[in-house]
Amino acid sequence: MKKLLTCMAFAAFGASPVVAQTVGFSQIGSESGWRAAETTLTKQQAEERGINLKFSDAQQKQENQIAAIRSFIAQGVDAILLAPVVATGWDSVLEEAKEAEIPVVLLDRQVDSDKSLYLTAVGSDLVHEGEVAGKWLVEEVAGKECRVVELQGTTGSSPAIDRKKGFEQGIAGADNIQIVRSQTGDFTRAQGKEVMESFLQAEGGGADICALYAHNDDMAVGAIQAIKEAGLKPGEDILIVSIDAVPDIFQAMAAGEANATVELTPNMAGPAFDALKAYMENGTEPAKFIQTESKLYTQADDPAGEYERRKDLGY
Ligand code: AHR
Repeated sequence: MKKLLTCMAFAAFGASPVVAQTVGFSQIGSESGWRAAETTLTKQQAEERGINLKFSDAQQKQENQIAAIRSFIAQGVDAILLAPVVATGWDSVLEEAKEAEIPVVLLDRQVDSDKSLYLTAVGSDLVHEGEVAGKWLVEEVAGKECRVVELQGTTGSSPAIDRKKGFEQGIAGADNIQIVRSQTGDFTRAQGKEVMESFLQAEGGGADICALYAHNDDMAVGAIQAIKEAGLKPGEDILIVSIDAVPDIFQAMAAGEANATVELTPNMAGPAFDALKAYMENGTEPAKFIQTESKLYTQADDPAGEYERRKDLGY
C-alpha cells in the first residue's frame, strides 16, 4: 500500500520522479465539532490509502501553520494539505513549497494567494452556504419584521468573510429583515454563548431578536444555551439557522431548539488525495477548485435520524 501514490510529479511543481508516500497536514486546530470530524476523516483516508500522514495542529495560529509547512518542506514530504486559518499572508511559504516542488492542496478554506501557488483547493461554495441560510430565513418569516443577530466565524477567515456576504445576498431585497448586531464568536461554542449573552442583554433580554444566524453550528449550540438561560425558547422565540450539519445541531433541531443548518462535508481529504494521486500518476491537473455539496436541513428532514447517522463519525 505504501506505493499507492508512487510515480511522477509534473508541470508547475516539478518534473523529477518522486514517491509520494508522505503527506504533511497542517490543521487549524480543534475549534469545532466539524473540525474534529475533518481531522478524523483525513487520518482515516490517509490510512486507507497507505499514506504516512504527518499531522500538525496549529492551535488557531497562522505562525504555527507556517512553521509546520516549513518543517514539512525540510522533511521532504511529497505533498502538503493545508487548512488555512485566515485568508491572507500565505504567499512566501507557498512559494517555498513550490520551489521545493511540493504540491499543496488547500482544504475547506481559501487563501488570497495566486492560484499558481497551490495545486487545488477542496471546499464548498462558502458564499452559497450563507445565501442558502439567508433565503431560508426570508421564506420562514414570510414578510414579518425580523431583527437578526449574527455570530461570525474567525476574523479574517474565508468562511467568516464569505458566509457573511452570502447571507447578506440571501436577505437582500427583504426589507423586513435586518442584521442588528454582528460579532465574531471565533467558531467556538464558548464564544458563541458569551457573545449571544451580550446580544441578549443589548436587545431587551432577547425580546427584540427574531433570529440568530451563526456561521457554524458550534456557536449556535453555545447561543442556544445562552437563550435558554435567559428564559427564552430557542427555535421558537428566536429562530436559529447555522452551518455545518454536526450531530449536536441535529439533536437541537430534534428538540425544536434549532431550525435549520447547511451541510459542510468534513470529508475534504478524500477528493484531495484523489486529485494528488491522479496528478502524480499521470500529470492530470485537477480543477483549481473541487467543490463539495451544501445541503439545507430543516426540522422537517428527520433531525433525530440525521443525528443517529452522524454521531459516530468523529465529530
Ligand atoms: O472552515 C470551515 C469552518 O471551520 C467550519 O464551518 C467551522 O465549524 C470550522 O471550524
